[in-house]
Amino acid sequence: MKKVLFQVHWFFGITAGLVLALMGITGALYSFEDEIVDALNPDTLFVQPLERQLSLPEMVSKVEAQGKDKVSMFRIEPDSNRVAQVWFQPPPGQRRGEMHNFNPFTGAFTEDALGQDFFGFILNLHRFLAAGEYGKQVTAACTLILVFFCLSGLYLRWPRQALNWRVWLTLDWAKKGRSFNWDLHSVFGTWCLIVYLLLAITGLMWSYDWVSNGMNKLIGDPPVAGEQRRGGGGPRPGPGPKEAVPVQTAAPDYALIWDTIQKTAGPDLKAYNLRMPQAPGQMATVFYILKNAPHPRALNQITLDPASGQLKAVSRYADKGYGAKLLVSNYSLHTGSYWGLPGRIVITVAALLMPLFFITGWLLYLDRRRKKRDIRSARGEVSTATSGSASQGPAWLIGFASQSGFAEQLAWQTAGQLQSAGLPVRVQRLADMTEQDLNQSHNALFVVSTFGDGEAPDSARGFERTLLGRPLSLENLNYAVLGLGDRQYQHFCGFAQRLHGWLAERGGSTLFAPVEVDSGDSAALQHWQQQLGELTGSTPATAWKAPDYENWTLNQRDLLNAGSVGSKVFLLGLTGASDTRWEAGDLVEVLPRNAPSAVEHFLAGLGIAADSQVHVDGLSETLGQALRSRQLPANRSHLVGLHAQALIDALVPLAMREYSIASIPEDGSLQLIVRQELHPDGSLGLGSGWLTEHAALGASISLRVRRNSSFHLPSEPAPMILIGNGTGLAGLRSLLKARITQGEHRNWLLFGERNAEHDFHCADELNGWLASGDLARMDLAFSRDQAEKIYVQDRLREAADELHRWLAEGAVIYICGSLEGMATGVDETLRALIGEEGVQSLIEQGRYRRDVY
Ligand SMILES: Cc1cc2nc3c(=O)[nH]c(=O)nc-3n(C[C@H](O)[C@H](O)[C@H](O)COP(=O)(O)OP(=O)(O)OC[C@H]3O[C@@H](n4cnc5c(N)ncnc54)[C@H](O)[C@@H]3O)c2cc1C
Ligand SMILES: Cc1cc2nc3c(=O)[nH]c(=O)nc-3n(C[C@H](O)[C@H](O)[C@H](O)COP(=O)(O)O)c2cc1C
Repeated sequence: MKKVLFQVHWFFGITAGLVLALMGITGALYSFEDEIVDALNPDTLFVQPLERQLSLPEMVSKVEAQGKDKVSMFRIEPDSNRVAQVWFQPPPGQRRGEMHNFNPFTGAFTEDALGQDFFGFILNLHRFLAAGEYGKQVTAACTLILVFFCLSGLYLRWPRQALNWRVWLTLDWAKKGRSFNWDLHSVFGTWCLIVYLLLAITGLMWSYDWVSNGMNKLIGDPPVAGEQRRGGGGPRPGPGPKEAVPVQTAAPDYALIWDTIQKTAGPDLKAYNLRMPQAPGQMATVFYILKNAPHPRALNQITLDPASGQLKAVSRYADKGYGAKLLVSNYSLHTGSYWGLPGRIVITVAALLMPLFFITGWLLYLDRRRKKRDIRSARGEVSTATSGSASQGPAWLIGFASQSGFAEQLAWQTAGQLQSAGLPVRVQRLADMTEQDLNQSHNALFVVSTFGDGEAPDSARGFERTLLGRPLSLENLNYAVLGLGDRQYQHFCGFAQRLHGWLAERGGSTLFAPVEVDSGDSAALQHWQQQLGELTGSTPATAWKAPDYENWTLNQRDLLNAGSVGSKVFLLGLTGASDTRWEAGDLVEVLPRNAPSAVEHFLAGLGIAADSQVHVDGLSETLGQALRSRQLPANRSHLVGLHAQALIDALVPLAMREYSIASIPEDGSLQLIVRQELHPDGSLGLGSGWLTEHAALGASISLRVRRNSSFHLPSEPAPMILIGNGTGLAGLRSLLKARITQGEHRNWLLFGERNAEHDFHCADELNGWLASGDLARMDLAFSRDQAEKIYVQDRLREAADELHRWLAEGAVIYICGSLEGMATGVDETLRALIGEEGVQSLIEQGRYRRDVY
């Protein structure tokens, strides 16, 4: 239901929205017609008053003498120096007779007022799009659609915190891009909602007879004998369609007519509008307004016999019932003058805002289209990369298992190398690999990392559990394994080794010995590449390598936890020279630099000058500069006596450090949330120390973005449960921002830290999202705010029912932060709450995603 409403809402929005935008602008202009025309024509519309205005019979004889025709209608303000207006009978075959302004003191015609034709055109646009009956049908349909916009828009934006007025009515000016457009559309839409409903309903009174008849029946007074109904509108002087046929009228007696008007209206008469009958025997009609009328269209109506002046009926505004008053005031309600000048201003502003909805609606639509196109083209690229032509033989299967994206990146590079050697390839996650895939392949390459304590990455746990236990026969399979790991972990490349062991045990033949990569070691990666080159018979001209580091500028460093008992946490902002894009959930790899004081300390006593020139990667620089990117061992005894170049050659380059990205490209800056690593001797960790202390604001930082597809948003808009602690907020924050940009509100955050007072990172932002409904729920666990320790897993346990509900609705769980303690604890709690099978099935469905370290 919601989806259909949404589709219809945007489809009408990008079509009928244009007409409504035009109607809004023309309506706003037209509502100030009187003021504008008066201001343009001070000398034309106002005359020098004489002792008294002419009497009605005198006016008639004077204007009929000048117009050489019978009058059909007058509009006169008896106590004013404003010009009066007269309409003559239309000539045969024409809709309208001539109209003239005239001096009510002399009866002489005056000049036409400047601007009246322009406003006539504006009104014609507003009501008929300057296209007659056809245009009227269009504006009428668009007015109906406006009612639909109001009601469907209200339903579509209904926030979870419906009782919080801020959520409905306030705009977050800090937002950018799609989310800002969405806010503009929905918040201003709410502000304008009542006004638009009023404009639409009052407008429909002119659009469709069934509306005005229905309303008359519903809220009008019973008709008074002799009274003419004028639909919803007030008397805009001008002959109506029925006046098209000129007919002979009975000889009117204007003295008697005036007498009746005066007697009936009394001394407070401000202005009146006299319409002479169209056919013999018909009555004349007078609409008049009193000086103390509540609004400009609080009209009274007299029906009289034009020959005798005899009063036939009178209908006074003050005597009408409430509903009938509203009907008579339709025009005033439509323009806002019912509430005086403030009402008109409100209506005008709302009408002027009409194009905003058309424009923001289109921007939202284009953004959605662009995203869909991106997804389609990404899929297109993958399918090209995965297909092989029949003539080239069966595709090489390249399976990968990655926790944080490195193995995935290498799998694609591997595929690229094979493809450039003319081999067809098929790249596949181990999570999606079946027994059949293995049986049908002749050649397979596996690029897998190890995670946790020697385990398979989350996504491949199902593969290991189901396939690795099976006694498959893989005698036809030739394979090679590239294992990624880190020797600092006890089970170095544990999963790669188990996978290799199983493949060998099942009869597969190794293409070459497994290659194990320690912390991205480039020599090992080159070895893998060489082996592939030898295998495919084509040694590539250039070694494929990881993307180059780029220079980014550090321009924001805000302490997030002043006064905390823990080590300092900073929000860092960086801007890049290039237009590097990333997706929420991605990581960066930062090349740290030693602090100048550390280099100085290292060189002290070695007897080599810091400004000695050395060569690194073909570039000449000083030893001091070169040492900033090398590991500086505490024990230097083996380095004593070396000259500058030999010293540099003997030292290993610093390893990169990974950080979860905390922002989205639309923010205009790449943000990180980094905690200072504190060593027991009080010194700072290399990467965190460099980013949070040693690098000056404005300094250049070498970093590159690493795609972390297993932590990206779900491909379908499912609910999201985001769980994290400390700096783990970074990855969750980028995901949340991306979700809010997409207009998805089913986000539940569980965040943990030490003390609410000091460690509630980005509190204003998170509370703001909760208030605006962008976060449907937020559970906080501040472990040290009470006697017993409370962690996110405890909050999860407390909300077990809600967890079950969200999972039943297809929620995807994202976990970011420390593996020890937090992620392990959450994992155990999840297993206790939904069972081993439940967690396993979530992992296999890609609904349990982790960026933990
Ligand atoms: C996927 C992922 C995402 C992360 N996201 C964040 C984040 O958003 N915010 C955050 O504050 N931290 C994050 N970290 C942790 C971060 O990468 C660093 O480990 C942390 O900043 C401490 O590094 P350091 O250089 O300051 O400290 P150091 O003491 O210099 O190093 C800390 C650790 O880095 C490793 N290390 C040290 N030297 C080497 C070396 N030569 N080769 C390989 N490894 C070495 C060791 O494990 C060491 O214990 C993340 C880690 C990973 C793996
Ligand atoms: C929390 C965590 C646990 C890890 N555990 C191991 C391990 O037990 N054995 C190992 O060799 N490498 C381990 N590693 C190192 C990763 O395997 C290595 O960083 C690899 O390059 C990651 O590749 P991926 O991004 O494709 O997952 C671990 C890394 C992290 C962050």
